[in-house]
Amino acid sequence: MSIAHGVRTLGVLGAGQMGLGIAFVSALRAKVPVLLHDRSEDQVKKGLALMDKLLAKDVAKGRITSDLAKDARDRVTVVNELKGLRDVDMVVEAVSESLPLKESIFASFAAELRPDAILASNTSSISITKIAAAAVPAGTSAASDAGKAGAGRVVGLHFFNPVPVMKLVELISALQTTPETLDRARAFAIACGKEVTTSKDVPGFVSNALLMPFINEAIMCLEKGTATRDDIDTTLKLGMNHPMGPLQLADFIGLDTCLAIQQTLYEGTRDSKYRPSVLLERMVDAQWYGRKNGKGFYEYTD
Ligand code: 3HC
Repeated sequence: MSIAHGVRTLGVLGAGQMGLGIAFVSALRAKVPVLLHDRSEDQVKKGLALMDKLLAKDVAKGRITSDLAKDARDRVTVVNELKGLRDVDMVVEAVSESLPLKESIFASFAAELRPDAILASNTSSISITKIAAAAVPAGTSAASDAGKAGAGRVVGLHFFNPVPVMKLVELISALQTTPETLDRARAFAIACGKEVTTSKDVPGFVSNALLMPFINEAIMCLEKGTATRDDIDTTLKLGMNHPMGPLQLADFIGLDTCLAIQQTLYEGTRDSKYRPSVLLERMVDAQWYGRKNGKGFYEYTD
């Protein structure tokens, strides 16, 4: 028997490349009304402009009718305050990779949102168990019924960039996550047209525990002068049929995001194989974040 996700309205926190993509597939594929919140008005403006562009492209390619595109766009409403998400059935947090930031957001969710709402994080590597601990209502013990219920509705729902194109969602259970939360979150990802894999709550889960050492090794090859940027990327693209070389992919994900994930992996495992390369650290020091701000291993003018 298929489990219903029960999401009549979705909240998305963060209108960056991930949050916007999640809002897009939820509105277009799962056909669910979305309330989108970001503290930066500029980010929301850019996000909505990208959504219009993606919908127009799908119409131009004959994949959807203009009515369907309009319906999807009309399902997305911007809310100016986190409080505006108070009646959603599920929220997906897609802000930057910082544990203190996510802890404060999940504490606010616990205080503001309905007690039966699912609280999902799109984190790439931060412990879902730690995030869930922040959703225990204030003044309540984690072991009490209210504490367990608060944390039990937290789950990891890890989408991949670009969300409209990538077919996977990785589902991560915190120690506290209830089976019902997991089933509903999985059903929601499937309604968004995604295939779902599950991972235990270990640093980086399956995806980034494998991807980040690969990217880091490529950066170290460049650092050591083993090969040029283009030869490293071409080797992987043509030799292994990867759609992008690892340096191109690092730029695409964002070098700041790659570094934050690698730091979480290294701190969480204390395994030297996850230690970020000095070159990556220096590029982030220089505020070269990759495609998102025009300069990374490559230069971007669009
Ligand atoms: N948003 C939405 N759609 C996008 C997009 C974006 N940012 N970038 C590209 N696309 C769409 C294009 O519009 C095009 O759609 P169409 O088929 O409808 O025309 C389609 O993707 C293919 O794009 P292009 O023809 O322009 O270019 P490519 O064939 O080179 O594909 C790519 C682009 C899909 C990005 C491909 O290079 C790719 O798959 N790269 C690897 C991406 C990847 O590995 N992502 C995972 C990153 S890890 C992650 O997200 C986890 C996190 O925790 C770090």
